[in-house]
Amino acid sequence: MQILYGKPVAEQILSRVKADLASILTQNKAAPRLVVILVGDEPASCVYVKKKTEIAQSIGILSEVIHFSSTTNPEEVYSKIEELNHDSSVHGILLQRPLPQSFDRFDISTWIIPEKDVDCFHPTNLGRLMTGDSSKIVSCTPKGILYLLDYYKIKIDGALISVIGRSAIVGRPLCQILTNRNATVIQCHSKTKNLKNLTLQSDIVVVAAGVPEFFGPEFFGKKSVVIDVGIHRSSNGKLVGDCSSKLMTSEISALTPVPGGVGPLTIATLMENTLFCYKLRNGHS
Ligand SMILES: NC(=O)c1ccc[n+]([C@@H]2O[C@H](COP(=O)([O-])OP(=O)(O)OC[C@H]3O[C@@H](n4cnc5c(N)ncnc54)[C@H](OP(=O)(O)O)[C@@H]3O)[C@@H](O)[C@H]2O)c1
Repeated sequence: MQILYGKPVAEQILSRVKADLASILTQNKAAPRLVVILVGDEPASCVYVKKKTEIAQSIGILSEVIHFSSTTNPEEVYSKIEELNHDSSVHGILLQRPLPQSFDRFDISTWIIPEKDVDCFHPTNLGRLMTGDSSKIVSCTPKGILYLLDYYKIKIDGALISVIGRSAIVGRPLCQILTNRNATVIQCHSKTKNLKNLTLQSDIVVVAAGVPEFFGPEFFGKKSVVIDVGIHRSSNGKLVGDCSSKLMTSEISALTPVPGGVGPLTIATLMENTLFCYKLRNGHS
């Protein structure tokens, strides 16, 4: 079985972004500025935000975090985002999920203007994917998965692909961009009947269910390429995915490890989206 590591793919994306940015900055332009908004102190979110800002800075993107307490009124966060929307020195804004219950998940998707929406949550950006246009801002994790499949030369065109999960951040946009690349896509979720029958006949299965180690070898065939998006901290402190560790020794064609598979790609594509927003403002694309 082939192990599909994300690190070389992420490094390729980051070095491309870094080189592209360096050539723009020689023209005495101000560096791109990415503002990350964190509400609360959820440990995983704090780690992700720290990683995002560190990687941004390492490739020449100015990055800062605005931290609100978990009890902050959504109106206060909205006001800050409105201020950043109008600040011409800010090119990208990211509102770290998950957010406290007091935030309406549909409402917040419209807060960041489409031109600064580096996470691709705005209905305008998601709607563009639905019209068949994947050439603008694309959701970070789905975009990373496409890069990974291309890097390992796994054919998307004409493939039958099951996507398990229908969130606005992974499952839904992934189905759109795979369809835009001529895959035949089955969108699965918690109410899907006979899930196993669908995954067993698929060439590629993307698992983004958010259920630790739930999907064992019985869900996949010998030719399956399995992309495990899930990431969880188990009771013994280990990072695990949505797929069972038994998959590592099972007869499938290829598998992304957890950690080290899809994870590194999400931050790399976030940097690419930030550069895209920056170029858009500066008339480079
Ligand atoms: N590596 C990365 O960079 C990265 C990025 C984003 C997310 N993640 C991870 O990916 C996982 C999914 O994230 P998410 O935000 O998309 O999660 P989410 O919003 O909780 O969505 C989970 C989806 O999976 C479906 N589902 C749950 N249990 C299922 C089951 N037993 N069978 C079939 N479908 C099932 C749900 O169906 P319903 O809609 O019917 O409830 C829902 O659509 C999480 O572990 C998350 O931490 C990783």
